[in-house]
Amino acid sequence: MRKKIVAGNWKMNLNLNEGAQLVNEIFKSLPALNSHKQVVIAPPYLHLTQTASQLAGMDDVSLGAQNCHHEASGAYTGEVAASMLKSADVSYVIIGHSERREYFKEDDAMLAKKVNQALINEIQVIFCCGEPLEIRDAGTMNQYVESQVKAGLFHLSADQFKNIVIAYEPIWAIGTGRTATSAQAQDMHAHIRSVVAAQYGAAIADDTSILYGGSCKPSNAVELFACPDVDGGLIGGAALKASDFIGIIQAM
Ligand code: 13P
Repeated sequence: MRKKIVAGNWKMNLNLNEGAQLVNEIFKSLPALNSHKQVVIAPPYLHLTQTASQLAGMDDVSLGAQNCHHEASGAYTGEVAASMLKSADVSYVIIGHSERREYFKEDDAMLAKKVNQALINEIQVIFCCGEPLEIRDAGTMNQYVESQVKAGLFHLSADQFKNIVIAYEPIWAIGTGRTATSAQAQDMHAHIRSVVAAQYGAAIADDTSILYGGSCKPSNAVELFACPDVDGGLIGGAALKASDFIGIIQAM
């Protein structure tokens, strides 16, 4: 049975004190979760060791990172390797976020290498895909997202693929307040699952968690998460407020 996951991507927000306080507030109201449900908190790199010590002993909440470098180590000033994340108790890493693809020019080949680095270091990948508005308007979103998934992930063996979570984040819905309708999300998630099934078989596709991201809030999470192929969410803005993040966890 695939996991339901709510992951909070803090992006470039909160200083160390604010981050520690947010985690404490989340803990105070965190509902009990069964073993098929997981919460992930992905703060900026600087927070990771602090957040790791706050999460120590909490099975329901895992630590995530927002990125990793595509090489194992070396002269890459300012960068962080997947092996370093592992040493800070990071369990998940977000790879291929549209903000990284756009502002940092991360292309498919680089993302595939990042995925490899994460898996070599036994870190699970939350692989992001999603189309810009002009592609949605042109009606070619299925092909667009399918090609992102294939280029970033389909070099993996079936065994490796079991460590992949996919996050569908339509760019037009990120930080805009304009959420995909549950029908739009369900259609795309079902499409992604069928693409995975064609490559890796129905059993692996059935076990793959596919998260929705883009203006997800407590008020729309219930309807989105009720879709059969939507297995939780990757949350930006609403992950920065404990009550909103808890509301979304409750929806899961
Ligand atoms: P928002 O929830 O702020 O729209 O961001 C979604 C996102 O990009 C999560 O990775």
